[in-house]
Amino acid sequence: MTLAAPARTEPVLEAHELYRFFHSGDDETFALRGVSMEVRPGEVVAVVGPSGSGKSTLLACLAGLDEPDGGFVRVAGQRLTRRAEPARAALRARWIGLLLQSGNLLDHLSVSQNIAAAQALARGAAATSVETLLSGVGLAERAHARPATLSGGEAARAGLAVALANDPPLLLADEPTGEVDHANESILLDLLRARADAGNAVVVVTHSDRAANVADRIIHLKDGRIDHG
Ligand SMILES: Nc1ncnc2c1ncn2[C@@H]1O[C@H](COP(=O)(O)OP(=O)(O)OP(=O)(O)O)[C@@H](O)[C@H]1O
Ligand SMILES: [Mg+2]
Repeated sequence: MTLAAPARTEPVLEAHELYRFFHSGDDETFALRGVSMEVRPGEVVAVVGPSGSGKSTLLACLAGLDEPDGGFVRVAGQRLTRRAEPARAALRARWIGLLLQSGNLLDHLSVSQNIAAAQALARGAAATSVETLLSGVGLAERAHARPATLSGGEAARAGLAVALANDPPLLLADEPTGEVDHANESILLDLLRARADAGNAVVVVTHSDRAANVADRIIHLKDGRIDHG
C-alpha cells in the first residue's frame, strides 16, 4: 500500500495587504494599513485590538461587504474583492456565515423564521434543520419568540444560529460575545470552537480574554496594522 502525502489544507480565507481609508472633509482615517492573513479549515482565529483599531472594517472587507482601497480577499481560492455585488453575494451565500456587530436578526420575524429566511436566501438545500440549529444554541424553547423579546445572550445565540443556517465553511463573527454574560460567552465561544473542530474556519472579533482559550491564533490589530508585539 502506498500512502499519499497528506494534502496540505488550502486556506478558506486569504487577505493580502488590505488598505482602507475613510475621508470626511479634510479628515482622513486610515482604518486598515496593509493587513494580511490566512485562515484554514479547522482554525479559530481571534482578532483583538482597541476600539477604532480597524476590526469591524477588516471583517467587512473579509466578507465582501466593504471594498478595500488596496489589496484583495480570496475565499476558497476565489477572488471576492473588485467583483460585482451579485458575484460577491453568490460567494457569500456559498461560503460565509456572518454575525455582525449590528446584529443579523429581522425584528418582524420569529427566531425560527429568521433562520428559515436565511436558508431561503441561499436557495440551496438547507444543510441543517431549523430545529437542529436552535437546539445547538440552546434556543429550542424560544423558536417562536420575536428578537425584541430575547435577552442579550439569547439574541447573540439566535444570531449565531442564523449565521450558521447554511452550514458555512467560513464563519465571520464581530463581537458575538459583546453584550452577554459569562455563561453565554462561554456557550458562544464553545460553539465557535466546535464549528472549527467540525472542519470549518472561524474568524471572531472579540474583546474577550476568554477567546484566547478557544482560538488557535490571535491577531492583534493596532491603528489598522497587525501588531506583532
Ligand atoms: N464608514 C466610515 N466612515 C468613516 N470612518 C469610519 C467608517 N467606518 C469606520 N471608520 C473609522 O475607521 C476606524 C476603524 O473603525 P472600526 O469600526 O473598524 O473599529 P473597531 O476596531 O471595530 O472598533 P470597535 O472595537 O469600537 O468596534 C475608526 O477610526 C472609525 O471611526
Ligand atoms: Mg467594531
